[in-house]
Amino acid sequence: MSFPIVRHRRLRRTAGIRSMVRETVLTVNDLIAPIFVTYGTNVREEIPSMPGVYHLSMDQLDAEIDEIVSLNIPAVLLFGVPETKDAVGSSAYAEDGIVQQATRHIKKRYPELVVVADTCLCQFTDHGHCGMVHVEERCGELHGEVDNDASLELLVKTAVSQAEAGADIIAPSNMMDGFVQAIRAGLDEAGYSHIAIMSYSVKYASAFYGPFREAAHSAPQFGDRKTYQMDPANAQEALREAESDVLEGADMLMVKPALAYMDIIRTLKDQFDLPLVAYNVSGEYSMVKAAALNGWIDEKGIVLETLVGMKRAGADLIITYFAKDAARWLK
Ligand code: PBG
Repeated sequence: MSFPIVRHRRLRRTAGIRSMVRETVLTVNDLIAPIFVTYGTNVREEIPSMPGVYHLSMDQLDAEIDEIVSLNIPAVLLFGVPETKDAVGSSAYAEDGIVQQATRHIKKRYPELVVVADTCLCQFTDHGHCGMVHVEERCGELHGEVDNDASLELLVKTAVSQAEAGADIIAPSNMMDGFVQAIRAGLDEAGYSHIAIMSYSVKYASAFYGPFREAAHSAPQFGDRKTYQMDPANAQEALREAESDVLEGADMLMVKPALAYMDIIRTLKDQFDLPLVAYNVSGEYSMVKAAALNGWIDEKGIVLETLVGMKRAGADLIITYFAKDAARWLK
């Protein structure tokens, strides 16, 4: 008996065929490694909820960047954990601020390594919000309202000081209205029109940032970030946010977090022709690490599948705390 079956031959019979027809390829060139720089000397402190990720003082930076460069990872994303915080986050834009110092140091040692500077105030303000806040005490509790336009001025100062220090890309993560336009104008005016902006265009108010806030000591001291970060339930709004960033002059767009927002990554990739970055955030890292340390999952398999999934969804670049591991596994 014969059946008139239209056969779709599955092209996966041998490894050779599989690799010939593979649609998405993850390479080390897609990865950006975050680094937390802190004050003091001799600090190499593991972040409890992020095994394998450290707070490093300046004198401990070399070992880390040497490793990153030797693995051929093209870029780092710098976060600063400063010694002093105040209401206006002045250590974010100080000439000798921690990010500025680290940037100068890295660019001197490795001019080719791309330095992306996170431009935000939350690690540098005593209240832990991403901008200027008007604080008020009501019934013994602190309340605050973020002052969008006053914050913009401080963020522009921060971006310009980072560019001055040698950062190649400015990555504003603060989510104030109009931040891309303000930073673009500020950079141009200061003579940094060649410096690109990687905008955290679509940043959701997410529980996945929990470990990062512990790591960066940047949890808000009151209130939350829901007034300026996006509602996880919204997809249309992501398009509006990204569109305004494009019009304001962003050079790259970002979706953050990544895993729970793969549909947003795909939508942005289809709608805009700018390079798209996915941020595989701290909570996504911690969950995988915890399960791996328990022996419950195959870490390498899970990580590579996740990262290739983000690329397949449309990401051109991925910021990930797994960058060094992935680079090793991809060798
Ligand atoms: C804000 C910022 C955050 C992250 C990067 N930049 C935290 C936040 O919005 O609370 C989170 C990154 C991560 O979770 O890995 N400056």
